[in-house]
Amino acid sequence: MPGGGVAPIVITGTTDTSRLEAPITIRAYLICAFAAFGGIFFGYDTGWMGGVLAMPYFIRLYTGLPYPDASDKAAVKAFHLPASDQSLTSSILSLGTFLGAIIAGDLADFIGRRTTIIAGCGIFTIGCILETASTGLGLMCAGRVICGLGVGFISAIVILYMSEIAPKAVRGAVVAGYQFCITIGILLANCVVYATQNRNDTGSYRIPIAVQFLWAIILATGLFVLPESPRYFVKKGKLESAAKALSRVRGQPIDSDYIQDELAEIIANHEYELQVIPQTTYLGSWANCFSGSIFKGNSNVRRTVVGILMQMMQQLTGINFIFYFGTVFFTSLGTISNPFLITLITTLVNVCSTPVSFWTVERFGRRKILIIGGSGMVIMQFIVGIIGVTAGRASVNNHAAVSAMIAFICFNISFFAATWGPCAWVVIGEIFPLPIRSRGVGISTSSNWFWNCIITVITPYLVGTGKGDANLGAKVFFLWGSLCCLSTAFAYFLVPETKGLSLEQVDKMMEESTARHSAAWKPHSTFAEEMGLTHKGVALDAPADEIHTTIVEKADV
Ligand code: BGC
Repeated sequence: MPGGGVAPIVITGTTDTSRLEAPITIRAYLICAFAAFGGIFFGYDTGWMGGVLAMPYFIRLYTGLPYPDASDKAAVKAFHLPASDQSLTSSILSLGTFLGAIIAGDLADFIGRRTTIIAGCGIFTIGCILETASTGLGLMCAGRVICGLGVGFISAIVILYMSEIAPKAVRGAVVAGYQFCITIGILLANCVVYATQNRNDTGSYRIPIAVQFLWAIILATGLFVLPESPRYFVKKGKLESAAKALSRVRGQPIDSDYIQDELAEIIANHEYELQVIPQTTYLGSWANCFSGSIFKGNSNVRRTVVGILMQMMQQLTGINFIFYFGTVFFTSLGTISNPFLITLITTLVNVCSTPVSFWTVERFGRRKILIIGGSGMVIMQFIVGIIGVTAGRASVNNHAAVSAMIAFICFNISFFAATWGPCAWVVIGEIFPLPIRSRGVGISTSSNWFWNCIITVITPYLVGTGKGDANLGAKVFFLWGSLCCLSTAFAYFLVPETKGLSLEQVDKMMEESTARHSAAWKPHSTFAEEMGLTHKGVALDAPADEIHTTIVEKADV
């Protein structure tokens, strides 16, 4: 019998809005925790390059310059990679990740979330091989782009996958686990680079690069055994597979009420969305991401714009100024003897503050913590800026003032790590309806990488002291602080509260409420009820094209 004995099951939904999900099991936590591991790629890959570019062996190999004599100040000063090469090798990763996230958003609807992540690991491995083998700029850049593609795949689709399988009560916390892994990735990269930086052989840069193979092997192997997202199967019209996958992630038998109710709700919501925006051609389905009126809170274009802005605003908080240019900035403050150590401390603060969000994101909700976090960063950055232009100026040589600046930079990192860091990812995984979800998440993630790249490219000019540079020094914190005001306003006016709702309920809430009133919205009906799936069911083995007609007819009755 097709479906190994499950064929006769007919799925019916519930009218009870509180019964849409099974109790949370340890298994559900473990599956999500494993998927969060994808964050390590993100963090590690963005973390190792800066350190490698400053390694003496690497500089000698790439430039052909001899090691300078410590007493020859001019030679020491000239011993570095040309700025254009530094900029190219750093920013070319973003090109790959930008494209990777968009392509993956597309692919995940065709080959599945899990397979797309595994493909991302494969691509990443090829890029790593090229990077490890490289002894010159050409191959290194080729490797960077290919690795970037892989990271783009993984960074977008892990969010999608986690949001789709996580139980609603802990979805925010679980996705915050991904951010935690990003921070661990950055820390690990710093530690490995720190350990190999003075080696006088190719191991100095090859070891930090090659360590990444491990991440690819672990994630790909794990995903082979994890279930696919049930929502992907519903989108494909494969209800039997959807029921099996849901039963695995929820740890309940296929014919249990929990699985039936939740699956019916996913099916009914998908059908509802298809009625609103029918899937047409391939290009038409891309165009769907931008359909509707920007002034309507639940239109697709509005959701896509919120996703794009969400990630843009996260980058414009200026957090990567600290992580990418921290060492240079701390050195410029004059009184610090070991800027690397300070960089390591800021990375550690980032790691240690992120777990706070596991609790706050579910306790206070997404909106609240984005607004609190944004306001906190405004205050911290302005304080850093004010100290920086007064008592903290390098010419004053005031240790206490510089220490205070570093302390406030660390508070700023804590605010980011507990709020905007994780929440930007949580929100983009939740606001899109199933028909455009994977592309929406892909586009939003590519916005993260786009702005990440812009910041990497422009910051050296903002704080540079050369001819034509803005030479902002600590004043740059006024810029980030002002941008954080914008981020906070964005959260207040445009980000809806999604805490505790199923993805289908989020869809309903966005239809019936506005961002500012969303926190008070309560689920009052189910899609299953609306689409007539509560009195008559849909058979699990129904062919894909029949599901639609059956449900639409029922809804019309
Ligand atoms: C951001 C990265 C940043 C990291 C720091 C992520 O959420 O997207 O750009 O480097 O957090 O922890």
